[in-house]
Amino acid sequence: MKQNNELILVLDFGGQYNQLIARRVRDLKVYSEVHHFGISIEKIKELNPKGIIFTGGPSVVTDKDAPIVPKEMFDLNIPILGICYGCQLMVHVNGGEVTASNKREYGKSTIKYDVTSPLFKGMKENSSCWMSHTYHVSKLPNGFENIAYTDTCKNSAMVNRDKNLYGVQFHPEVVHTDEGNKILENFLYEICKCSGDWVMSDFANEMVKTLKAKIGDKKVLCALSGGVDSTVAAVLIHKAVGKQLTCIFVDHGLMRLNEGDEVVKMCRDEFDMNLIRVDAEERFLSRLAGVSDPETKRKIIGEEFIRVFEEEGKKIGSVDFLVQGTIYPDIIESGTKTSAVIKSHHNVGGLPDVIDFKEIIEPLRDLFKDEVRNVGRALGIADKLVDRQPFPGPGLAIRIIGDITKEKLDLLRETDHIYREEIALAGLDKEIWQYFTVLTGIKSVGVMGDERTYNNTIALRAVNSVDAMSADWARVPYDILDKISRRIVNEVKGVNRIVYDITSKPPATIEWE
Ligand code: XMP
Repeated sequence: MKQNNELILVLDFGGQYNQLIARRVRDLKVYSEVHHFGISIEKIKELNPKGIIFTGGPSVVTDKDAPIVPKEMFDLNIPILGICYGCQLMVHVNGGEVTASNKREYGKSTIKYDVTSPLFKGMKENSSCWMSHTYHVSKLPNGFENIAYTDTCKNSAMVNRDKNLYGVQFHPEVVHTDEGNKILENFLYEICKCSGDWVMSDFANEMVKTLKAKIGDKKVLCALSGGVDSTVAAVLIHKAVGKQLTCIFVDHGLMRLNEGDEVVKMCRDEFDMNLIRVDAEERFLSRLAGVSDPETKRKIIGEEFIRVFEEEGKKIGSVDFLVQGTIYPDIIESGTKTSAVIKSHHNVGGLPDVIDFKEIIEPLRDLFKDEVRNVGRALGIADKLVDRQPFPGPGLAIRIIGDITKEKLDLLRETDHIYREEIALAGLDKEIWQYFTVLTGIKSVGVMGDERTYNNTIALRAVNSVDAMSADWARVPYDILDKISRRIVNEVKGVNRIVYDITSKPPATIEWE
């Protein structure tokens, strides 16, 4: 997307942290975009970036078909920071040597920086960094000098001062590198001389302009789930083309208490959108009857969603564009070419085959969850909507272990409502990133009054996260947990035991299925 702001170009060599680098740069108030490493020199000149960052990647730079850039790129008078593979590439193209190490270096390493270098300005000399490599720089190219080392990696960072070319073997973009953010900040402000002219409202305004130009007077259809992502995507499009947008909200009956009604109210009353609500609870529940396997549940919900959507879409007739609220973590967790499928997120790659449309629009596909919230705020969406916790497309179906029935859903909804009410009363609703109850499928013995009970176990889940890629379990105070536990057992028939989930992600995931 063309912005009028300063730009840092991130060139993608296939590493897993590519978007994360761009996002860290945006956090530092400089606009950043990821582009394919094969971008032409002409295009780079046209984009006129303040700096370029080469990402890591799985290739070996000396291989015949390794992704490479022309030597000319280093003579554009644009500062470059090469990370991991990107660093080795810079060395290789400029005449240095990259060779295989005896051992793979993976994880935290103790590093010593030359803090007189602008890249490490204001940092501690001795620190920790995150390494992940088998090859290393064995000989620096002419004009380059060393600016950091570890015990096992002599050339952990290097610079060509005349040309403002920097390379780091480690990953400054991951949180495990202490002061990694400071390194990126130094690159932007000390080396590229950025002024930090970018805020999220610029993204929103530019995106509205881009969408307006792209859509023109054509028709757009949006699958609205009521979650933050699809809401923000819909409001963006609505800002751009108003009533040319029709939203379809498929109520699958797997939502939280009153949620369906709230979604409809918000869209119609607050945003005056064209909205079609489809009440499809029965269809979904009958297709899910007797199904316990998590991936099968997800697939069924995804398929049924597409069917309902298709039927409604047909009533509208052909549209030109289909909007999806896909965000970046959905794309990686559903498996890209290089990463494994953890869970099939049903909002990725499902709808396109069945709806008569010309093009799909995913305005948020490069953003992380917290960035999407900021776009929402920039668009003037009320905090109470923007700050809603993430809610999975398959809804409560993946919070009921085992098969799904209306009774179980109602029970879960009641427990979830109490949990949310108490967390809000305790003033923790803005602090905890996501929290919900899970019907564990375990029954256990209890005693109520003088009676033996044999009832359901509810698990409370609460996690803190920035982008859902990793999460830590939230330390909710005992007395609040105690109150929640008492209320649920007393008020919800069929529950006699509450447990608290104390696993982080990884190794667990946030949802239980
Ligand atoms: P997991 O359980 O994979 O969840 O750690 C990460 C985040 O994604 C949400 N989630 C989904 N969101 N469609 C969605 O739109 C899905 O199929 C889906 N599955 C999980 C989950 O609630 C958490 O915030």
